[in-house]
Amino acid sequence: MDTKEHRLLVEITDATKVFYSGKLATNVLKNVDLRIYEGDFLMILGKSGSGKTTLMNIIGFLDRLTTGTYSFLGEDISHLSENKKSEIRNQNVGFIFQQFHLIQSLNVSQNVELPLVYGGESNRKERLKLSKKYLELVGIPEKMQAKTTELSGGQQQRVAIARALINEPLIIMADEPTGALDSETGAGVMELLKGLNRSGKTIVMVTHDEDLLAYATRVIRMQDGSFIEEERMNG
Ligand SMILES: Nc1ncnc2c1ncn2[C@@H]1O[C@H](COP(=O)(O)OP(=O)(O)OP(=O)(O)O)[C@@H](O)[C@H]1O
Ligand SMILES: [Mg+2]
Repeated sequence: MDTKEHRLLVEITDATKVFYSGKLATNVLKNVDLRIYEGDFLMILGKSGSGKTTLMNIIGFLDRLTTGTYSFLGEDISHLSENKKSEIRNQNVGFIFQQFHLIQSLNVSQNVELPLVYGGESNRKERLKLSKKYLELVGIPEKMQAKTTELSGGQQQRVAIARALINEPLIIMADEPTGALDSETGAGVMELLKGLNRSGKTIVMVTHDEDLLAYATRVIRMQDGSFIEEERMNG
């Protein structure tokens, strides 16, 4: 299925992740195989401690495998330097977290602009233009100059989504993006993510909420570091 419309973005093969604390080894991922195609809305479910966030961190270049291989767009990334991986991450991956992770000392627009700053965009007008574009896309252009502490939870998550989108990454990684929101506000965020997915954005999301699976095109269930089931959904 490696057509132009469905490029193979991520290919993880026979992956393990072991955390060591002193002499004690914990096998957090066990023989995981995963392919992510462009346009997927992949949801990952599993009990607390099953390895979901660890897997997300590996997919998003925030952590490395203990054994196994990881190719991104066909390139083996396991031997790249941390600097090179940071560069690929900043260009290709946008992150959304349960607790939003906005920087309170910066206003809304400055938060959204951060990936551009990290990417070396020094033209302030260009940054402002793009941040306005993405704040419009997420439905809160009027909050551009607001303090993040003046926003509701749902608005803060929209800022985080705009920040995740501003570099036009290939993949959005969302770890429990609705976990801190009431169900109605969470549904608004899910509709926004689904709209992005319909327009072609690849999304990988962790959730505990079975009700949200209807938004997915694929669902993987994890248990003790392994995939126990994969379902295809209508999305
Ligand atoms: N940096 C680390 N050092 C040691 N152990 C870790 C580290 N990060 C995670 N673990 C362990 O790996 C296991 C999986 O953790 P992970 O955060 O991936 O679970 P999770 O599925 O995301 O859980 P939750 O639903 O609670 O977020 C846990 O047993 C955890 O204690
Ligand atoms: Mg987690």
